[in-house]
Amino acid sequence: MTSATRAFTKRTIRDLDPHGKRVLVRVDFNVPLKDGKVADDTRIRAAFPTLRYLIDRGARVIVVSHLGRPEGRRDPKLSLAPVAERLRQLSGWPVTLAEDCVGPKAEHAAADLMPGEVLLLENVRFHAEEERNDPAFAKRLAALAEVYVNDAFGTAHRAHASTEGVAHLLPAYAGFLMERELTFLGGLLEAPARPFLAIIGGAKVSTKLRVLESLLRRVDALAIGGAMANTFFLAKRYDIGKSLAEPDQVGAAQRILDSGKDILLPTDVVVAGSTAAPNGEVVEAGRPVGGMILDVGPATIALIGDEIARSSTVFWNGPLGYFENPAFGVGTNRIAQLLAESNATTVVGGGESVQAVEQLGLADKLTHVSTGGGASLELLEGRELPGVAAIPDAT
Ligand code: 3PG
Repeated sequence: MTSATRAFTKRTIRDLDPHGKRVLVRVDFNVPLKDGKVADDTRIRAAFPTLRYLIDRGARVIVVSHLGRPEGRRDPKLSLAPVAERLRQLSGWPVTLAEDCVGPKAEHAAADLMPGEVLLLENVRFHAEEERNDPAFAKRLAALAEVYVNDAFGTAHRAHASTEGVAHLLPAYAGFLMERELTFLGGLLEAPARPFLAIIGGAKVSTKLRVLESLLRRVDALAIGGAMANTFFLAKRYDIGKSLAEPDQVGAAQRILDSGKDILLPTDVVVAGSTAAPNGEVVEAGRPVGGMILDVGPATIALIGDEIARSSTVFWNGPLGYFENPAFGVGTNRIAQLLAESNATTVVGGGESVQAVEQLGLADKLTHVSTGGGASLELLEGRELPGVAAIPDAT
């Protein structure tokens, strides 16, 4: 079953003849590192369709990305060297890493680049001008290439020099990942096949309030899990023991409960003394909690499972429990499996739910797994993303 997708109206690399051109490609290679190695290469692989398309057509590909938040200073721990290494291993392309993203070293490396070769520029956030969207810095980046492609959906909510500024200085095009993300996530806002269910987890109501309000206008049912559900329990005057919650968001939770939509709160929860506990005890929601709530219980998983089974579109964001400890990752993992088994259009957005799907090897069984955390949420809030807005419409 397919749900409506949103037509992507921006100019894409299909509208470009990249042959022989120096193409500056903004990607989001902000990937987790562990012991100096890439711990999850999903975002690197997600850029392949665009990079391969350009390489196959003889472009000279100059890749620019940030990694972490070095706050304008050169930090060897946030070098893109491990990313260059992984990119080389995965693709077999000739990839070199430039020591800097602007200045003589980058300029020489860009000038020497042959068609079909890839130059990865060092972390663009080593320069404070990047996040300030400094026009002179954008100009220095633009000077490296003749054409600009933005495939960094995960960073499209940031108006930075490499995501926004440079798009006004070079002919700008969207990459395939950007197109795919906007098509599927945008489709949820446009005309999703009904019934449309959203499953929202994670720790805080406050950080997701705007996306909750936006989704409420569009969904038929909303299931809430994770520590965020505790704030809803407070609104219902349930005991939550020493669980994480946001008492100042109880009013917002109450407004959502009163929205007239079908709101599914956990009916049972898993309780333990601490997040490090080896296991927990299943307690009916509303009963006294002698510890902290760390996962949804089996009855809740069955309830959400029934709702998934009757839905034609499902969007999921945020873990349903403290899944860093596998003892409390049951709810999150089961939801990932139920989505993978479902015939509905299934879209997953946001860091930790995506991580769960990837760890279980289920990404291929879902309609779309977004590479964006903050960007996917801002898009679903109905906001325009600066990195997308800066790309001209297709004619
Ligand atoms: C992300 O991982 O969400 C993006 O790469 C953006 O990173 P940022 O929040 O540091 O801007």
